[in-house]
Amino acid sequence: MTDLLSDASHATAAIPIRFVSAATWPTEAALDAATRRFAAMNDFAARPSQHLIMPDAEGAVAEVLFGIEDADAAWRDPFRPGQLATVLPPGLYRFANAPHDTRLAALAFLLGGYKFTRYRPSERGLARLVIPDGVDGSEMARTVAAVTLARNLINTPANDMGPAELEAAARALADAYGAACRVTTGEELRDAFPLVHAVGQASARAPRLIDLTWGDAAHPKLTLVGKGVCFDSGGLDLKPETAMLLMKKDMGGAATVLALARMIVDRKLAVRLRVIIPAVENAVGGRAFRPLDVYPSRKGLTVEVGNTDAEGRLVLADALACAAEDDPDLLIDLGTLTGAARVALGPDLPPFYTANDALAAELIHHARAEHDPLWRLPLWPPYDSLLDSRIANLGNVASGAFAGSIMCALFLQRFVADPQRWLHVDIYGWTPSARPGRPEGGECQAARALFALLEQRYG
Ligand code: BES
Ligand code: MN
Ligand code: ZN
Repeated sequence: MTDLLSDASHATAAIPIRFVSAATWPTEAALDAATRRFAAMNDFAARPSQHLIMPDAEGAVAEVLFGIEDADAAWRDPFRPGQLATVLPPGLYRFANAPHDTRLAALAFLLGGYKFTRYRPSERGLARLVIPDGVDGSEMARTVAAVTLARNLINTPANDMGPAELEAAARALADAYGAACRVTTGEELRDAFPLVHAVGQASARAPRLIDLTWGDAAHPKLTLVGKGVCFDSGGLDLKPETAMLLMKKDMGGAATVLALARMIVDRKLAVRLRVIIPAVENAVGGRAFRPLDVYPSRKGLTVEVGNTDAEGRLVLADALACAAEDDPDLLIDLGTLTGAARVALGPDLPPFYTANDALAAELIHHARAEHDPLWRLPLWPPYDSLLDSRIANLGNVASGAFAGSIMCALFLQRFVADPQRWLHVDIYGWTPSARPGRPEGGECQAARALFALLEQRYG
């Protein structure tokens, strides 16, 4: 159980949080005259995210009022109550009535209380929450632990989160849940995963391929692949400073598949799970791979490097080819692959790709239900020829700058055996400015939606 949660036996001691909305306020809430006066004085009108802390006669917190959207509002943010975790004084709280979605409100409360404390302890005590009636506390704890793992990995700066540290994180997870972990490095990596090696060869911190397996071999095969670029300088096609600034988060795909794996093994889903993470640093140096270099790939296709900054798709190509070799029933890859995905949909709505319409519909359903939003973009066949190269089987970028996220997905598709059993998510992995339940910094995107889908299939 996480330290943010408390079981129902503490409910009587907990401070009640009352959800109110502008339309029903103050007629529906059973409030005395003093409360009404205090609210009016504080300009409390139950606007969404507005809160009011009511003192008791001793000066302690008696009750908290929190504004949510009207029941008939066009858009209701199920995570809005997550705001409370950042504004309430330390203490134990409970929901006095139901917000729009009690399970997601409680989850947002817990996720909103996250802080990255590795280098500086938190100055604030925790606002803790009694698990509301009807909410599964162990499911909640599992989700919070997984999201926290991903956020911590992403927020850790690159000097403390290189390929070796990412490997250590994967091994720690494997050890905790009895999974096997195999790592390929050095000459063996150059032979077996030439593109992973090429991208990582300039760094003093050795590139590697991490391969984790867990579960009964007789179960359906699920393979997760995550982009583990521990810092993306752009390579010789160096990024300008503003674009480079956040690139510690370029292992967000790896962090997210580890979080998803944690949920899967913790819940003991009936799958044979495999997690493949190419872990590299895209560095600058005398040994760096260069624009227009040509490399073989694990699949056998030769790849011409049009841009060294399109490195994520290169390392994923070899990882996907490897994943396809044991013919998984479902192959899912996640990575912080393109700036173009953000231009199209913004930081909070990652695009996903698959050739399978039924799988897409299933994922859209769970993304909505979990408030872990995703949006489908097409693997548009007419654009595929834009990857043609004059001298190799394909290039890693198209000649023009159009449809960047789609071009990346089409590149990856060339390395997948069966696009009907493949799902690719182009995540951002970061919340640029804090919103309810989503503190600023590293974010675990798509994992909750994917877990819900997997739990329905294999739970
Ligand atoms: N890691 C970046 C993509 C990225 C940038 C994600 C900013 C999130 C925020 C990736 O390796 C990259 O550099 N992609 C290039 C591709 C281009 C060279 C075709 C990009 O998006 O500019
Ligand atoms: Mn890049
Ligand atoms: Zn990158």
